[in-house]
Amino acid sequence: MCGIVAYKGPKNCYPILIDGLHRLEYRGYDSAGVACLNDGKISITKRRGKVIQLEQGLKTDGKFQNCDGPGIAHTRWATHGKPNQINAHPHKDQSGNIVLVHNGIIENYNPIKKFLKSKKIKFKSETDTEVLVQLIGYFFNKGKLNFEQSVRAALQRVDGAYAIVVLNKKEPDVMIAARKGSPLVLGVKDNEFFVGSDISPIIKHTQQIVYLEDSQMAIIKDDEYKITSIDKDVSLPKKVEKIDFKIDDYDKGKFKYFMHKEIHEQIDTISNTITGRAKKDRVYLNGLLEYWAQIKEADKIFITACGTSWHAGLIGKNLIERFAKIPVHVEYASEFRYNKTLIDNNSVVIAISQSGETADTLAAIKKANEHGAITVGICNVPGSSVSRETNCGIFTRCGHEVGVASTKAFTAQISILYLLALKLAASNDAISKASLRSHLDFSENIKKIKNVLKKENEIKKIALKYKNANDFLYLGRGLNFPIALEGALKLKEISYIHAEGYPAAEMKHGPIALVDKNMPNVFIVPKDKTYDKIISNIEEIKSRKGKIIIITDSKDKILRDLANDLILVPKTNHFMFCHLATIVLQLFAYYIAVGKNLNVDQPRNLAKSVTVE
Ligand code: G6P
Repeated sequence: MCGIVAYKGPKNCYPILIDGLHRLEYRGYDSAGVACLNDGKISITKRRGKVIQLEQGLKTDGKFQNCDGPGIAHTRWATHGKPNQINAHPHKDQSGNIVLVHNGIIENYNPIKKFLKSKKIKFKSETDTEVLVQLIGYFFNKGKLNFEQSVRAALQRVDGAYAIVVLNKKEPDVMIAARKGSPLVLGVKDNEFFVGSDISPIIKHTQQIVYLEDSQMAIIKDDEYKITSIDKDVSLPKKVEKIDFKIDDYDKGKFKYFMHKEIHEQIDTISNTITGRAKKDRVYLNGLLEYWAQIKEADKIFITACGTSWHAGLIGKNLIERFAKIPVHVEYASEFRYNKTLIDNNSVVIAISQSGETADTLAAIKKANEHGAITVGICNVPGSSVSRETNCGIFTRCGHEVGVASTKAFTAQISILYLLALKLAASNDAISKASLRSHLDFSENIKKIKNVLKKENEIKKIALKYKNANDFLYLGRGLNFPIALEGALKLKEISYIHAEGYPAAEMKHGPIALVDKNMPNVFIVPKDKTYDKIISNIEEIKSRKGKIIIITDSKDKILRDLANDLILVPKTNHFMFCHLATIVLQLFAYYIAVGKNLNVDQPRNLAKSVTVE
């Protein structure tokens, strides 16, 4: 689950690699490293921690200015072996000839390691990656195979998922990249070559992109390259695509953290996502056009995703069932990929992913495609694997989301799902034109986000009161149950406080046992048909002395009397209330984490995009 960037060309590789690593840091930030072939020698620099530490290390060592050969770089999210400098990539083989970066997991590393140890090869790190580079080195140093043949021989013996880039100081004019399971992209520009885990480190240098397919290798030699399968040295066609996509530069503006900036961007990101797609009484989702005839006929829809995107899926279920009256099954992608899910060629499978690179979500899409289902992606990153692997899709238009805890992507995802539910309803005559028109009139409601953002100081004060709590319960009903899950997840991710989301009434079946005078309980309470019921749930917690925090659009006195703290959001419709409550919960989690002096953009142990199983 790491980030890879590599460069071969006439320029000094360090600035290109370091800029690329910053862009890939969302994939992991335990440690980072870079290797460059310079004057026939391999020079490796690694640091535990973030890319900035590596960058400083290179500058202090005086290396940054100068490398005339190819270079490879890596930012790590530890799987095998602790996140320390020794386990950081790049890794070398024992002879010091071969150097490699790797994303993925070599599943059969144990027997290979045993075999290599029996050949007197000594290991320095605890990683599965070192096993692979040692195996390549083993074949190469026997002297019978050249570099390319050695890489091929080694890859044919490993199981698991990988994306790798390898250099060899004995063949300094060659750089080899290969992938199986994990994505890898090649950028080409005259005599320059770029390799990346995705296009983000490449696109500012070239728009000419080759997406390596599964089990393919790219062998770059001098100013030429060829694409082959890992199994056979037979050149395959080079499918060069021109990708017209701009990646924003990283800029926090007036904010200290990207997460804070991204929370504030939501008026724009929701508007951008809706603009042009909701017009009077019609919904336009042009990305689905080709498959719409089949999609609207679906008698059941599956939604699959991970993390925050899965919470958006739960909202999607509620909306599609409510408006379009089509049953929806929502499943974690990690379960979907292995469960006996009943999909066939009449099924529609919607995969939701901010990054478009989450390994489990991609595997779920693959399974759905193999079963002949129509796959629909809801994704934020054009050119990403999800956008490429699905039959059709809709982009959330959020721009780059940098904070690891997803914020603006979530509200954009649920906006798309709202439009999709309404479009399905309209296509199936399940909604009147008048009702559709009123649902699609977002203009006034979106402005209400501003009112919530103006309450930031009030939310901050309340958050700081609770920053030392050990456990939180988040409770909501209907559409607001997923919002409770999402609120709890935000708090866990960035503040490391244990938090659970529950349907408000369900808390009687277990969680209420945890409630005491120290436990804050966050209730999401719109004035809707479950309002009276949820008041009873609040009473149940109150009578056990739990602390009550209420987010509501109701000015009723009874809520003020029950609440220890209450955040009032403007009156709007059911759906927009979800957005407003979400933003309150994002700010609440944010200020608790900041109050605890934590790095909210890069919380411990997490990564923005989880590219391993
Ligand atoms: C990681 C991130 C979450 C995200 C999840 C799914 O766990 O930390 O913020 O919701 O992956 O990511 P995706 O890019 O597929 O939405």
